[in-house]
Amino acid sequence: MSEKPKITVSVIKADIGSLAGHHVVHPDTIAAATRILAEEKSKGTIIDFYVTNAGDDLELIMTHREGVDSPKIHELAWNAFKEAAKVAKELGLYAAGQDLLSDAFSGNVRGLGPGVAEMEFVERPAEPIVIFMADKTEPGAFNLPVFRIFADPFNTAGLVIDPKLHDGFKFEVFDVFEGQSVTLSAPEEMYDLLAIIGTPARYIIRRVYRKKDNEIAAVVSVERLNLMAGKYIGKDDPVAIIRAQSGFPALGEVLEPFAFPHLVAGWMRGSHHGPLMPVPQRYAKCTRFDGPPRILGLGFQIKNGRLVGPADLFDDPAFDETRRLASRIADYMRRHGPFMPHRLGPEEMEYTTLPAVLEKLKDRFVKVVGEPKTKKPILETKMLSHHE
Ligand code: F6R
Ligand code: MG
Ligand code: MG
Repeated sequence: MSEKPKITVSVIKADIGSLAGHHVVHPDTIAAATRILAEEKSKGTIIDFYVTNAGDDLELIMTHREGVDSPKIHELAWNAFKEAAKVAKELGLYAAGQDLLSDAFSGNVRGLGPGVAEMEFVERPAEPIVIFMADKTEPGAFNLPVFRIFADPFNTAGLVIDPKLHDGFKFEVFDVFEGQSVTLSAPEEMYDLLAIIGTPARYIIRRVYRKKDNEIAAVVSVERLNLMAGKYIGKDDPVAIIRAQSGFPALGEVLEPFAFPHLVAGWMRGSHHGPLMPVPQRYAKCTRFDGPPRILGLGFQIKNGRLVGPADLFDDPAFDETRRLASRIADYMRRHGPFMPHRLGPEEMEYTTLPAVLEKLKDRFVKVVGEPKTKKPILETKMLSHHE
């Protein structure tokens, strides 16, 4: 039993408006949020903070001793977003205030609009963490890399050769449709785990624990704005916190899966698949066809709650080939235009005209004699959400 008090890392993000479309946050909104968090730091509510952006998402990285889901911390994040949104409105930024779905704060930002990843732990003598922030994609985009980090021995050598990792990890998987979760152990239940997380729009790895001692290793935000609002309002661009080294995967093992720019959902109008491109902070802006989907990785050491850093982890020529491959995949996917699988399936699109088109054409469809009608429609055309 350690005597040390626990520390909480909270990463809370929202799109409160951006410059020249949905591609990048304006520096004045970063300044507005920074001012609020600096005040809270001087009052002692939070220990430390770092404000940045991934594309059009404003990202608040905070440390404190209030635990996860603390109304105090969520409220100050909410206030920081409100202040930033006020500036966004003054500047006439695009979609100003879009993720602040409610005018009144009610104790917890979950369900209100912002995305949240938080973890509480006793700081190790040296505590390296990585904060991942993605734009133009969904929380399930982390399924593949998080699986590989914590369960794939071809990615993480430590699972095989480091006695501290050799027992493996447990994965808490959240079903966003039913609002329930299930915990599976790897390597024993690896195939069951893969069977569900291969559907990343629905089953999302939310937390990972080290099996040996239940120590928290990773947490992913699971907010899906399009579902929460009942219709498309904003995107559900995710964030994640991952602990590294001495008993957790090494930093290089945490970053390695991102050398493969896997296809994720959420590009252009939240309705297209595209490659996830790892980028340094200076490229954390989404231009080409509003993308391609990007991920930023910032590394910190935490010392008595102080955020030491960050290191801009994808600012490395070692990821140049990944970016080039991602660009080539982007070319390839784009050439499909409005066709699946570049365009998402009808049940997943955040924008659609399909119901209206089908309605318009309904009297022009003529029954083809001799062709049987399938009992169940092959394509479910009912939308999860619809942007007006
Ligand atoms: C938003 C996003 C963008 C928008 C697109 C259309 O984060 O992913 O691709 O969906 O730019 O935006 P509106 O409907 O605001 O013109
Ligand atoms: Mg946006
Ligand atoms: Mg975004």
